[in-house]
Amino acid sequence: MQSKVTEIAPDTYRISTFHPDYGIQFNQFLINDDEPFLMHTGFKRMFQATLEGVRSIIDPAKLRWVGFSHFESDECGALNELLGVAPHAQAVCSVVGAMVMVNDFADRAPRSLADSEVLRTGRHRLQFLATPHVPHGWDAGMFFDEAERTLLCSDLFFQPGDPEPIIESDIVGRARDAIHGGLEGPLAKDMPYTPYTDSTLERLAALEPTTLAVMHGSSFRGDGRKAILDLAAVIKTILSKPEGGS
Ligand SMILES: [Fe+2]
Ligand SMILES: [Fe+2]
Repeated sequence: MQSKVTEIAPDTYRISTFHPDYGIQFNQFLINDDEPFLMHTGFKRMFQATLEGVRSIIDPAKLRWVGFSHFESDECGALNELLGVAPHAQAVCSVVGAMVMVNDFADRAPRSLADSEVLRTGRHRLQFLATPHVPHGWDAGMFFDEAERTLLCSDLFFQPGDPEPIIESDIVGRARDAIHGGLEGPLAKDMPYTPYTDSTLERLAALEPTTLAVMHGSSFRGDGRKAILDLAAVIKTILSKPEGGS
């Protein structure tokens, strides 16, 4: 496996590795700043591909922060491998994530962020938003880069295959097709529809992002507020029904 690197916003690099067994991309995002920040680590078994991608942008030893939305192997499975090559790096995640999992899992103590807390990396200010159960997981959260209005949105807008790095249209249509397609598969019910779902997505939309950095599939440049509200409507229509019927 080899990663492909694309700058999708100023200082913001998408490191994309297509995994043929899964048939999907696993995308990490590096914000190259005074204190370089990597969003997601990829699987432990993909570590070399991810590391080569990072190395094409910066010396991996300079990494300072490793962020992720929720505790799953694709989001943070290679965390300890990264901490091993980056002596000043630290995981950064939600309070729940740190207390319940990462304090124990990580070889070095993580930094936990409360809802709305800001992580300054230099020119960039990353606002952390606790988003329990969006896309999934009690510990879930998202980072919003206020400098470039980029929302690092984890599994939201999931698209299968090995598509282009960034698109400017139709991301909601692709995401809707993927949600429909997933209803029959072994990973159905990945995203619960809860009493928090609508308000969480409305809060993300209100950030008015201009880039959506998507973990699986193409990223999006354009009216992020509209895309998130449109996705929220799709999620409500499809996932609020017990059997996921439309
Ligand atoms: Fe996930
Ligand atoms: Fe994921």
